[in-house]
Amino acid sequence: PLRLGLMASGNGSNLAAIANAIAAGQLNASIAVLIYNQPEARVAQRAEQLGIPAVLLDHRAFPNRELLDAAIIQTLLQAEVDWVIMAGWMRRVTQVLIAAFPQRILNIHPSLLPSFPGLRAVEQALKAGVKISGCTVHIVELAVDSGPIIMQAAVPVWPNDTAPTLQARIQQQEHRIYPQAIALAAQQSDE
Ligand code: GAR
Repeated sequence: PLRLGLMASGNGSNLAAIANAIAAGQLNASIAVLIYNQPEARVAQRAEQLGIPAVLLDHRAFPNRELLDAAIIQTLLQAEVDWVIMAGWMRRVTQVLIAAFPQRILNIHPSLLPSFPGLRAVEQALKAGVKISGCTVHIVELAVDSGPIIMQAAVPVWPNDTAPTLQARIQQQEHRIYPQAIALAAQQSDE
């Protein structure tokens, strides 16, 4: 089984979806550790309920991104993680982390990349007036929301959509594809 290290900042619905897929036998993996950076994040409560060890690394406690990443690496290595799964991790990472897990960090982003990278992707899509949006799982490279695409899912954008309604539709697809994308990325890296 793959040993996953999850990184999250907020709600944690993707963590829950990945844990569900593992419990349902759809993904041969275990979540070895959750790293989160916001003390109040709901993802920490979810991890506790699921029995997943959680480590708070508050970015405000580190003088720069590289030293935060060094602490992240130490935590991931201690947990003997094979794959790093960013599930709503809202901090930019540095080459320090990427070099420690080359081609082994996945991210999910709520748009059809390369459209709408960066923050507030759902709002960006609404503002642009696109009629289709979706989500993307990709391997993490240094530039924000770049790197080889593993899997995408598309959703319609309806005329009366708001950011919350569109985001909910996109997240349903995130929860479906992220466990599949993890399995696919691991399989592709073995070939
Ligand atoms: C997800 O929709 C994910 O695509 C997005 O944060 C949300 C986290 O939801 N990630 C980004 O915007 C990364 N730039 P969750 O905490 O419920 O899993």
